[in-house]
Amino acid sequence: MYKPVNLSDQIFYVGVNDRRTALFENMWPLDRGVSYNSYLIVDEKVTVIDTVEAGHFEKWIAKVRSIIQTRPIDYLVVNHMEPDHSGAIRVLTELYPNMEVVGNKKTIPMIEGYYGITTNMKVVNDGDTLDLGKHKLTFHTVPMVHWPESMVCMEETTNTLFSSDAFGSFGTLDGGIFDDELNFEHFREEICRYYSNIVGKYGNPVQKALAKLGSLSIKAVAPSHGPIYRQHINEMLTMYDKWSRYETEEGVVIAYASMYGNTEEMAEVTARAIAEQGIKNIRVYDVSKTHASYIISDIFKYKGLILGSPTYSNELHPNMESLSNKIQHMGIANHYYGVLGSFTWAGASVKKRSRRKS
Ligand code: FEO
Repeated sequence: MYKPVNLSDQIFYVGVNDRRTALFENMWPLDRGVSYNSYLIVDEKVTVIDTVEAGHFEKWIAKVRSIIQTRPIDYLVVNHMEPDHSGAIRVLTELYPNMEVVGNKKTIPMIEGYYGITTNMKVVNDGDTLDLGKHKLTFHTVPMVHWPESMVCMEETTNTLFSSDAFGSFGTLDGGIFDDELNFEHFREEICRYYSNIVGKYGNPVQKALAKLGSLSIKAVAPSHGPIYRQHINEMLTMYDKWSRYETEEGVVIAYASMYGNTEEMAEVTARAIAEQGIKNIRVYDVSKTHASYIISDIFKYKGLILGSPTYSNELHPNMESLSNKIQHMGIANHYYGVLGSFTWAGASVKKRSRRKS
């Protein structure tokens, strides 16, 4: 039933869609689902690049076997150990006991830690090449994009970069797999929400990775989530460069918590005043209604940030406290920052947010 999706004659997309999981990493809403992308190279050596989340193993291995039939898998390349990609490693090593697991020196102890696997490991270093026959994979470590062991690899004959989480997106692949066979507009917001919430804390490591990969001649980028890029490669490189420098465009995010509408009213008045100054990109969010991931995504886009909260038991409103902590945790920089608040019997909220940096 499954019709192979080719990146080239011998390279296949074998990823799966997840429309059931509500929260990615049990935190980030998946309103549009997510894809776990996996790739297969069928050459003298049969090679899988990353697996899928464990619950999707059966449909994934069915795709793989519809292509390789009874041939064994020789190599499993582990670009990234987060279980949405490594979840099938243990079952796969049991099915293919002679398969070598390829990772860098930081990957290997993590495979033991997660899955208790210590044998048939092949350690690759930065710049090493693995010969698969006609195809060759060259490995590039990209530490902290967004885990310590994060790695990408380049297939040298097709100039395909298997970029792991980098350039990934939330959202399932609903028929179209490549960016030139789907409506790319559908993914733009989710690419930004994915970057800002999953990778956004690591601006400096992203800059280092972009510098390291800058000299490669890339014809396709095959990430671990979302569309495969053939058309928007330069745009994505430019966006990652901009986001990782915390460069923003003109606009203001006003995020507020409000119990009885007073702080909300201040947010509305403030938004109108900003609009009267000619600013067109203004996004006003109630933090008790909109999940932080959407607000953070817009904070990465726009230069101005205003947080509003009433005082709640001499503290910030807990939902604003939560957003404030996330913003601080992510190290978001280069913003104009303002606060607003309301109180009757204690005025702690404005003071507390004024002490925070953005
Ligand atoms: Fe898609 Fe960091 O895992």
